[in-house]
Amino acid sequence: MASSLIQLHEKTKAYDWLYTSVQQRPKFETKYKLPKKGKDPFRTLVRDYMKMEAEKDDRTYGFLDGAIRTRETTKMDPRFVEVMKVIIPLLTNAEYQAVAGCGMVISTVQNQEMRQGYAAQMIDEVRHAQLEMSLRNFYVKHYRDPAGFDIGQRGLYQHPAGLVSIGEFQHFNTGDPLDCIVDLNIVVETGFTNILLVAMPQVAVRNGDNALASTMLSIQSDEARHMANGYGMIMALVGEPDNIPMLNETLERSFWHAHKALDAAVGWATEYGAHDRPWSYKEQWNEWVVDDFVGGFIDGLYEFGVKPPSRLGAAAEEVTWTHHTMGQVFSAMWPLNFWRSDAMGPADFEWFESKYPGWSAAYQGYWEGYKALADPAGGRIMLQELPALPPICQVCQLPCVVPRMDINTFRIVALDGKNYALCSEGCEWIFSKWPAAYKGRKQFWERYHGWDLADVILDLGYVRPDGKTLIGQPLLEMERHWTIDDIRRLGYEIKDPMQTA
Ligand code: BEZ
Ligand code: FE
Ligand code: FE
Repeated sequence: MASSLIQLHEKTKAYDWLYTSVQQRPKFETKYKLPKKGKDPFRTLVRDYMKMEAEKDDRTYGFLDGAIRTRETTKMDPRFVEVMKVIIPLLTNAEYQAVAGCGMVISTVQNQEMRQGYAAQMIDEVRHAQLEMSLRNFYVKHYRDPAGFDIGQRGLYQHPAGLVSIGEFQHFNTGDPLDCIVDLNIVVETGFTNILLVAMPQVAVRNGDNALASTMLSIQSDEARHMANGYGMIMALVGEPDNIPMLNETLERSFWHAHKALDAAVGWATEYGAHDRPWSYKEQWNEWVVDDFVGGFIDGLYEFGVKPPSRLGAAAEEVTWTHHTMGQVFSAMWPLNFWRSDAMGPADFEWFESKYPGWSAAYQGYWEGYKALADPAGGRIMLQELPALPPICQVCQLPCVVPRMDINTFRIVALDGKNYALCSEGCEWIFSKWPAAYKGRKQFWERYHGWDLADVILDLGYVRPDGKTLIGQPLLEMERHWTIDDIRRLGYEIKDPMQTA
């Protein structure tokens, strides 16, 4: 049996073809030396693969079907489901960009084993996008407040968080195709998806959302194969000494950017989108990123000259605070969100201080002030209390108030007569090495400079079907909801801090 399976597997490769009759002209060339024959990282026969995926689909879609009858959405904590209005489209953006990345690898490399692996990964990533769309459809139809889920992907792409997502996941398919693999399969899939797709489902279950947990775990069971694709590729690359310095530089760049975007988003969602927290983000990060990815996976490649990211320590320090600052920023800008925010209260204060000593001194006063401004009758919002809007980092697109307002690492860099905001030493290094990749990125505040906040919200389309009630609200339970009229009465104008500085 075994030998015939291997024969069959070899036969599947016969469906691939080499570039003998046309010239292979990839959009981006690779600078790496890649052997023409590699170890097959994805030695699953196509028919076994299809059977396995069909069974996983049956289970996940079957769960969603049953969840309608057991009224699962009524058992979910809205604090959790609201943050999923932004997290799920962010995930779908990653899938979509990964699909494009797989296509790019297939059309660039000569190595047939890798091409086969990436053909399968492409099918997986399409499957993930379909699962996420079905989950959103489930929330739209059955969750008590579907506003925000219904505008899905467009909602994200209009929002500053969408620019964080696009900017991060664009590295799956832009530039040297093998750098894209280092970014997608090594750093993001091997290093960071476990917290997102294994640890986050634990938070989902604790907060009553079994639908999200089932979907994410089904997705993650494919990620193991994508990690194998990355491993197959890196093992092919390390055999050639000339590749090593380029590989190390790409690892460094991808690690820093993935840390900025994913730690901000996932840290925020898992702690500020929960009442019941099974762990702290920092603990998960130490386990999955430091011990497992860097201490296990990367360390295992040390003998070939692969180095751990030199900014691991700097990233670890930021992970203590950045997502709390994101909690501040996302809540302060609640009128510009397409989900409802919630205020942190006494039970949250206690938990945060126990897990992150020093949290109370830095953040508790903010949350008390935030809650006091929640009622539209008060006629003021947190944005009016700020001396200025935070500049947005030209590389990672996070607000330049991280890791914490009072210890932020903001800097301005001039290039060709224009000033650019950068949030950290790591992003400044990336910007200086690859300015062409980042200098053209348009900033959210720049786009709306001089606009009244009410007009910005209308332009973004973040209003409910009555045409005036905002999708975003500062609390989950409101006596009266904020409307466009309430916002217009504030007379608040967006001022791009890079133009007024
Ligand atoms: C992926 O499916 O490859 C993926 C999912 C979430 C974030 C990044 C990548
Ligand atoms: Fe995926
Ligand atoms: Fe993947």
